[in-house]
Amino acid sequence: MSDSKPFRRDLPFEEAHAGLKRHFATFQGPKYAEGWAALWADGGFLPWDRMAPSPALADTLINHVEVIGRAILDEDGQTRRKRALVPGCGRGVDVLLLQSFGYDAVGLEYSKDAVKACEEYAREHADDFPVHDEKIGRGSIQFVQGDFYSDEWLEKTGFGKDAKFDLIYDYTFFCAMDPKMRPSWAMRMTELLRKSSQANLICLEFPTTKPAAAGGPPFASSPKAYLEHLSYPGEEIKYDAEGNVVPNPQAPSSPGALERVGHWHPADTHKVGKDADGKVEDYVSVWRHH
Ligand SMILES: C[S@@+](CC[C@H](N)C(=O)[O-])C[C@H]1O[C@@H](n2cnc3c(N)ncnc32)[C@H](O)[C@@H]1O
Repeated sequence: MSDSKPFRRDLPFEEAHAGLKRHFATFQGPKYAEGWAALWADGGFLPWDRMAPSPALADTLINHVEVIGRAILDEDGQTRRKRALVPGCGRGVDVLLLQSFGYDAVGLEYSKDAVKACEEYAREHADDFPVHDEKIGRGSIQFVQGDFYSDEWLEKTGFGKDAKFDLIYDYTFFCAMDPKMRPSWAMRMTELLRKSSQANLICLEFPTTKPAAAGGPPFASSPKAYLEHLSYPGEEIKYDAEGNVVPNPQAPSSPGALERVGHWHPADTHKVGKDADGKVEDYVSVWRHH
């Protein structure tokens, strides 16, 4: 990664979004992942990279245990650590947080440079992530290079090619891709989430107030968009001319749907998810197989 350029991380929201939109003009549709890899390879323009874990994930792990449970699973007479996945984990900060809460945590990145950045950050910042609960201890951690939409990276985790996860955390992954990919995103989430009442997909919904017509990334991601796509995984969802989801209340329910079991504003979130007065605009949604 280049060290010669100023590190433009804390750009104003509008400037960051305009820069990303310009960059992604040449990485349309499924090519968008290459666009992210190019940004990581250059290293000079990473405006989403907060270098610190999501306060909303910490709030969820601490204050919503009644919904998501803890990192240790007791099921069918078996006690084990839950497996957590962060697809598009960036620098891996949220993966480190999950590990410190006791999860066996996997950070998945399409960009090999991002994986290197994760490994370096994890080496240098281990002390910033103390064990949350001594009785539960620390889980394992690994950063894996691969494409969320393919299976080949699953073997690299050591959990087997049919691995399923007890917790999946999506932050700035849904909003990072072309909305045309959302049916595949939803289908893939249902495939990777274990079928159990103790397995949860956690989405930190962002940006919830950006006008859809402004384009992206990040693309406008309203609670309705998550709800429609996860209620009808793999199916085309209708959008209006501006890019807002148009729900279809007449549609029969989909057999593969995930059910939303929790939806709230987190107590705190990154600054980018708050309005000018500091009010949290992000939502946390929690999803399970029926
Ligand atoms: C907006 S960044 C967010 C990173 C991280 N979640 C954070 O909050 O800092 C989106 C990330 O998703 C990764 N990504 C995009 N498409 C991917 C794919 N198909 N499989 C795995 N990672 C992907 C990109 O390399 C990029 O680092």
